[in-house]
Order: sequence, then C-alpha cells, then structure tokens
Amino acid sequence: MDGSYEACAEAAAWLRARLREAPRVALVCGSGLGALAQELSEPQSFDYAEIPHFPRSTVQGHAGRLVVGRLGSAPCAVLQGRFHLYEGYSPAQVVVPVRALALAGVHTLVLTNAAGSLRPQLGPGHLLVIRDHIDLPGLAGRSPLVGPNDERFGPRFPAMTDAYDPGLRQLALALAPKELRARPGVYVGVGGPSYETPAECRLLRCLGADAVGMSTVSEAAAARHLGLRVLGLSLITNSAPGDEDEDGSEVTAGGAGPEPHPAALTGHEEVLAAAQEGARHLRALLLALAPKLDEPGRSRTRPDAP
Ligand code: HPA
Repeated sequence: MDGSYEACAEAAAWLRARLREAPRVALVCGSGLGALAQELSEPQSFDYAEIPHFPRSTVQGHAGRLVVGRLGSAPCAVLQGRFHLYEGYSPAQVVVPVRALALAGVHTLVLTNAAGSLRPQLGPGHLLVIRDHIDLPGLAGRSPLVGPNDERFGPRFPAMTDAYDPGLRQLALALAPKELRARPGVYVGVGGPSYETPAECRLLRCLGADAVGMSTVSEAAAARHLGLRVLGLSLITNSAPGDEDEDGSEVTAGGAGPEPHPAALTGHEEVLAAAQEGARHLRALLLALAPKLDEPGRSRTRPDAP
C-alpha cells in the first residue's frame, strides 16, 4: 500500500466504476462523528478493506466505511473514519482517501474532527470553524507533500494562505445552530497519540492555537495541493489541561493569556461521548450548508506559490 498517484487513481477508478454518480463533495468524519453519514439519501456503502490502496481504520469510533449518496441535493462521499500519523501510517498514506476522492470528482472537502479547547471561552459542545491551522508534524517534515512532487496532484510549492475557504467559513458561522456557539479560530495538529501535557498546552496557546487535535492538517495540505475547496470544523469535546500551581493560582506563561478550565479529559471514551452529543447539531449545519458546498460551476482552483 503506497500513496502514489497511480494508487490513488486506481482507487478512484474502482469507485467510479461502482458509483451511480460521481461525488462532488466529500466529508471526513472525526472521532464519534460517523453518524453524519445518516443524512445521505440513496446511500452506497463500501468497507475500506474493499477499496484498492485504502488503509485500514484501527481506531475506536472510526468505522472504516465510505458512504456515497446525496447530502440534500449535493452528490457527497462521507468517510466514516480517517487515518492518523499515530497509527503508524506515513503522511502520504493518511491522505490516500482525500486524493482518491479528488480524482473521482470531488471539488469541495469538509474536514470534521473532535478537538480539545485551549481557550476558556471555547467549551465542550462548541464549534470552532477553522480559520487557519498550524501543522506541527508538517513543520517538522512530516507533510504528505514531502518527497518527489507529482505534478498530477499539484504544484511543488502550494500556497496555504486562506487554505480554509473564506466564503465557506462565513457561511458555516452564519448557518451554525446557536447551540454550537460557533466561532472562528486556529487549529493546531499534533502527532499524538498521548494527549497533551499542561506545559504542551501552554506552548500551543503561545503559538496562537485555539484548539488541538491529532488529525486534519495533513488532509488539508493535500487537499490544497490538489486545489480543493476546504472547510474545517472542530467539535470541541474537552478542555485541554490548564496549569495550576499548588496554591491554585495559575502559572504565568509570558503573556499567553488566560488558561482554560483545569484538566477534565479522562480519555478517548469521553471524547467519543461528547462528540456524539454535538453531532446532532453538526448534522443540521451540514444539511444547511449542502447547497452551497456544491455550487454549480465550482472547479478545483490550484493554489500557486507566492
Ligand atoms: N488533544 C488532542 N486531540 C484531541 C483532544 C485533545 O485534547 N480532544 C479530542 N482530540
């Protein structure tokens, strides 16, 4: 299993041969958010194990199934389960589904995830509409774009300004149900799989991040390389740990600002339970967005190097 163009093209051709209609929108479901696929009408479903060159999901809460149908009127592919660097996959393997779906006809990608909040104003059940990201693995050389560049995917040096489509961000903020208390912010992608220490959270806040998670950034980089339009939505499932000293006052962090509530996270089960609660509102948002996700005449727009 590799992440080459030929491998992705083979997966795309396999899907096209079986699908009644080519998908134009793709939705990646984060932890506990797989039920988003229930909104699809006329679904066709495939186990990842059937699809050539697709990796296997190893994480609880990620079903490992591709469901293709219509979201409202938009032909849409829903990935119930994604791949993470912490599973041992290479960055190129992590993005095989995104690349295969782009080659199968997708022009707009919605990336959802469950994330930890780094800000007190952003609590469990709230939605961060990703305005920008910090790709920590990518900055350290673990980007899916590292290695010989295949121009059939995209350019050697793709720009990442406005990687998350400004128009879709505005729409998501406007259409989000009020229960989600949606607001824009910066998502930082980390390698995982251990959750962050309080000191690491303080570092991430200093970097300007509002929410932290173990996914999304590699997929967004690959999607922009392909010229896809990207929307990123983080459902906050927990507050990442705050830092308190023995007498209860916060440790100062050189202007990092107020810290979130002290540690509440007990583990992955808690993340899954919180995600399932928020998923109902997220489904409503995606249905409201569907017509805009599949605007007629939308085509892939390649980002050029500055
Ligand atoms: N940290 C990293 N990833 C996560 C978290 C977190 O606190 N919550 C959900 N995914």
